[in-house]
Amino acid sequence: MKRIIAPKGTKDIFPPEIAKWHYLEEKLRDYFPRFMYKEIRTPIFEHIELFQRGIGTETEVVQKEMYTFKDKANRDLTLRPENTASVVRAAIENDLFNRVYPLRFFYIGPMFRYDKPQKGRFRQFHQFGVEVFGDESAQVDAEVIYSSYDFLKEINVRDIQLHLNSVGCENCRPNFLKHLRTESEKRMKELCVDCQKKIYTNPLRIFDCKNLKCIEISNDFPKIIDYLCKECGTHFEEVKEALSIFKIKFNLNPRLVRGLDYYTKTAFEITSSQLGAQDALLGGGRYNNLIKELGGADISGMGFAAGIERIILQLDDVKHKKDKMIFIAYQSLPLMNKAIQLAKSLWDKGYCVYVDYNLKNLKKQLKKANKIGIDYTFIIGEDEIVNESISIKSMKNYEQITIKQEELDKWLINNI
Ligand code: HAM
Repeated sequence: MKRIIAPKGTKDIFPPEIAKWHYLEEKLRDYFPRFMYKEIRTPIFEHIELFQRGIGTETEVVQKEMYTFKDKANRDLTLRPENTASVVRAAIENDLFNRVYPLRFFYIGPMFRYDKPQKGRFRQFHQFGVEVFGDESAQVDAEVIYSSYDFLKEINVRDIQLHLNSVGCENCRPNFLKHLRTESEKRMKELCVDCQKKIYTNPLRIFDCKNLKCIEISNDFPKIIDYLCKECGTHFEEVKEALSIFKIKFNLNPRLVRGLDYYTKTAFEITSSQLGAQDALLGGGRYNNLIKELGGADISGMGFAAGIERIILQLDDVKHKKDKMIFIAYQSLPLMNKAIQLAKSLWDKGYCVYVDYNLKNLKKQLKKANKIGIDYTFIIGEDEIVNESISIKSMKNYEQITIKQEELDKWLINNI
């Protein structure tokens, strides 16, 4: 019979990697509420129109990457490729915008994009992200950027770079796009077929092209930063100033246009030099028109989303109390109660401990510890009781040491 395997671009997660997921989830649930974010969970599928209108029909995501299907009532539903549009939809539908500010949400969950799988790029991937509604200040942009950057630092992701740009607004972008179109038309023949089409559909997307020749050519194209209106220019200056208060360094990156159409003003990404082609750990920015465009009030938004799989690739092994298994062996039956006492004290501290109440013989207990893949066996014998000590045998290299009972906590911290 043909073996059934997981769909392309998806993956199973199990130990030891799962420990990194738990670590990340615990950390972010501790970190983001500090900034007054409250968790929101939205459905995994939505009506297709939400993403068409929210993300933009000319984006790669909507054109090529959406998982859309018909349900039994012939509705077109889409597995969410991102969560900003969904959070906005949920806030409009549940009348959240009429509540008292600050309206700040964070989320975590699976997203779906039909793209060619490669390292750091999946068809089902996971994001966590935040959205702030109703705050137009440049300072909140800086705060959101800071929290995303600082969180990566807090979980020890190294070699990260922050890229910053402004993509302007409906007042200044059309003029920029006109100039961009004129310049790109002049070099049209040298651009790839996709970029040639983008000249007329969405020229900003030319900057997203990964084709080296297109990158080289578009480096000479006008930069949006030189076309910002007064309001966007002032906002951008204030964002940079506020970032300096948070003391984080950034690269001004005129090519950073983001892959989704809803952005206005601030756009940012954090990349890692250790990731290769898919180097964006997270990205986001301001979206001042999305809520209105999706049928809500004229309220601004700002946020980011991070790719969890990409962050996991960058995380050091997580030491978790429950990753290592301890077996407590007793030399003779009268010492079993001592073993239980020791096990209880370790369970109370959160360690993963096993006692076998049936095997009275020490040798058999050690054999069992070996068989079930135990990391350390703690041995309680007559000598240990007299000397108030514990013997610890590594089941990986069979080395044995004896320590004083009062040294046990220190040993556990260093070894488990
Ligand atoms: P995005 O840049 O499309 O933004 O995605 C954010 C992050 O999700 C990326 O930086 C990347 O780490 C991860 N990601 C995207 N696609 C994949 C994939 N196929 N496989 C693995 N990871 C992936 C958004 O989604 C916006 N909603 C962010 C936002 C929130 N803007 C404002 N608020």
